[in-house]
Amino acid sequence: MIPIRSEEEIELLRSSNLLVSKTLAEVAKWIRPGITTLELDKKAEEFIRDHGAIPGFLGYNGYPNTLCTSVNCEVVHGIPSKYTLKEGDIISIDCGVLLNNYYGDSAYTFEVGPVNEKVKKLLQVTKESLFLGIEQAIEGKRTGDIGYAIQNYCESHGFSVVREMIGHGIGRKLHEPPEVPNYGRRGNGPLLKKGMVICIEPMINMGAKNIYIDHDGWTVKTKDNLPSAHFELAVAVGKGKADILSTFRYIEEVLENK
Ligand code: CO
Repeated sequence: MIPIRSEEEIELLRSSNLLVSKTLAEVAKWIRPGITTLELDKKAEEFIRDHGAIPGFLGYNGYPNTLCTSVNCEVVHGIPSKYTLKEGDIISIDCGVLLNNYYGDSAYTFEVGPVNEKVKKLLQVTKESLFLGIEQAIEGKRTGDIGYAIQNYCESHGFSVVREMIGHGIGRKLHEPPEVPNYGRRGNGPLLKKGMVICIEPMINMGAKNIYIDHDGWTVKTKDNLPSAHFELAVAVGKGKADILSTFRYIEEVLENK
């Protein structure tokens, strides 16, 4: 059963997801060569608690931190550490919060200083694919329409779609039905209805789609060690148009003024 949210619930989910968006923008201010991923994690945790919420990932299935910080060939679920960012890195920052009993969950992949053109293209295409997926999050479509839109666009640029990790419904739990793969066939999968709230989160590799989990039990990495990008937004399915509950606006304001 896929929950249908009332307008009140959607506004609560919007508040939670906007707090994640603002937290990512706060983290964006600090991203530069020389900072450690653990320092970024501390900034995020403090910001979330200062806003009356609690970190959504901390303790989830035993996850040890507030952020997932995934650098270069790390796809997702990288654990913050003493690793110092360096020029040319890319870093996916994935953040969750729990505010007023509803979860927020979003991610953005940042460039650290100048990065090479092909990496820039990977980030651009991955972000664009997310918005193509969001265009399909309307009543009457199916999750396969979202997956198809993302996969078709990314593969047409020569990139590949990670299969093992997917998007998800979100609500009073971080992960709820439906599953939202970033690949698929048009017309397949659960039917979307107004009021369903889902996180769409393409994880796109420059090279092959294959991944493995590191010895730490969390960090997902590309098998070929080539870079991977990840962007995530939460959206409420609407009639004719999706209602995007989180936003990259705050992040991009910070990046423009850097
Ligand atoms: Co998610």
